[in-house]
Amino acid sequence: MESTETINVKTLFSEEELQKGIKDLGTKLSKFYKDEEVYVICVMRGGVFFAVELAKHLTVPVKMEFVKLSSYGSGTTSSGKVNADNVSLPDLNGKNVLVADDIVDSGLTAKYFLDFLKENYQTKTLKFCSLLNKKARRQVDINPDFYVFDVDDKFIVGYGLDYKEHYRNLPYIGYVEN
Ligand code: IMP
Ligand code: MG
Repeated sequence: MESTETINVKTLFSEEELQKGIKDLGTKLSKFYKDEEVYVICVMRGGVFFAVELAKHLTVPVKMEFVKLSSYGSGTTSSGKVNADNVSLPDLNGKNVLVADDIVDSGLTAKYFLDFLKENYQTKTLKFCSLLNKKARRQVDINPDFYVFDVDDKFIVGYGLDYKEHYRNLPYIGYVEN
């Protein structure tokens, strides 16, 4: 059996805090979109837990799409390069589009994907939301339009965020203590 590297994880946001924060964002976004339909585009793999939970709290009509993007290698710093494998999306022209990811860190993934969407579609609205915002390591001038929590310059795991593909399934958000 493959062994998991043991790391020391300290809780940053409990399951209850996450649930409340995401629910409140859902309420805010439901008001923002009024009664209009929104396409929630979930960035895999990390954004899945957040996007799914957020969608449950949207009271407007929702359609969900999933794309796989990655800018991290297997380490704890951004590789600086975004990979998009087989991005396949419906016609988003004239639609309200809300991209949902786990965290905005360097900002490269968000910028890359927003530029991709702008080049390919004339959406009615285009917004980016994330569970977490790690401003300390930003490399490009971009900020999520909506987010739930700010985080310091720490390596985060849980609720979709991984360390070498492990710990995504933690129901809370923690940081790795060195
Ligand atoms: P960015 O392109 O540097 O903004 O990073 C985007 C992606 O890097 C996120 O969607 C995460 O998958 C990953 N990432 C950034 N910071 C962390 C972290 O602290 N822990 C785990 N993954 C992270
Ligand atoms: Mg990610």
